[in-house]
Amino acid sequence: MAFALQAEGLWKLYESGESVIHAVQDVSLSIEQGSMVAIMGPSGCGKTTLLNVLSGIDEPNSGMVRINDENLYGSTDDERTRVRGKHMGFIFQEFNLLPVMTALENVELPLLIQGMPASEARQEAAKALNAVGLGDRLEHRPAELSGGQEHRVAIARAVVHRPTIVLCDEPTGNLDADTSGSIIRLLRTLCNVGNTTFLIVTHDESIAKQCDAIRQMSDGRFIEEFTEEE
Ligand SMILES: Nc1ncnc2c1ncn2[C@@H]1O[C@H](COP(=O)(O)OP(=O)(O)O)[C@@H](O)[C@H]1O
Ligand SMILES: [Mg+2]
Repeated sequence: MAFALQAEGLWKLYESGESVIHAVQDVSLSIEQGSMVAIMGPSGCGKTTLLNVLSGIDEPNSGMVRINDENLYGSTDDERTRVRGKHMGFIFQEFNLLPVMTALENVELPLLIQGMPASEARQEAAKALNAVGLGDRLEHRPAELSGGQEHRVAIARAVVHRPTIVLCDEPTGNLDADTSGSIIRLLRTLCNVGNTTFLIVTHDESIAKQCDAIRQMSDGRFIEEFTEEE
């Protein structure tokens, strides 16, 4: 079985004055390539902290993370940046699109940063925007797009370099039910057709239901799940 992500024994503590917050406690997780996994749990249970640790934004106090069989915290900061850039995509609640750039320019930017020749980057960006249904909006700036369309641009930008895994923090948090339904269906299609792996942090039951597996978090830990046979 091939894993996009493997994590073992992750701990993340925050010290604030006298007290210590155990934001992530002994979390282990394996995500098969080409699957969609949801992490659910109440506000403050450690979901964003876990995502930050899994994505190399924030180093854990202990534990290991492997992305596509490469050790995320194994070597230098530069090496970690390389693994992140090559193997990971990100979708956050805020899209962080650059307002002065067109949809096409926003999506090609990560490819240019990675050193892809400009003409190839343009082609790949157009392909990714086509895949999210925005082939006719390439030259639009974010202000000229609807919220749902901006969201699709952010998704195209997250998958344009064909990452091993896309990490999503409340990706449909600001959207109405219809738009969020169409976004999750789009992620499902990218997963099924493009074999992209998704890890989605959400408090939305209807999003989680579209995933292959759901892990529940409480107080920094995964809660054991017991499935009952009917
Ligand atoms: N940078 C930080 N410094 C100190 N405490 C933090 C920091 N980030 C998060 N926390 C604390 O860690 C816990 C988990 O937070 P978070 O991961 O943001 O939860 P969630 O995303 O599930 O709402 C909370 O108690 C929060 O207050
Ligand atoms: Mg959060």
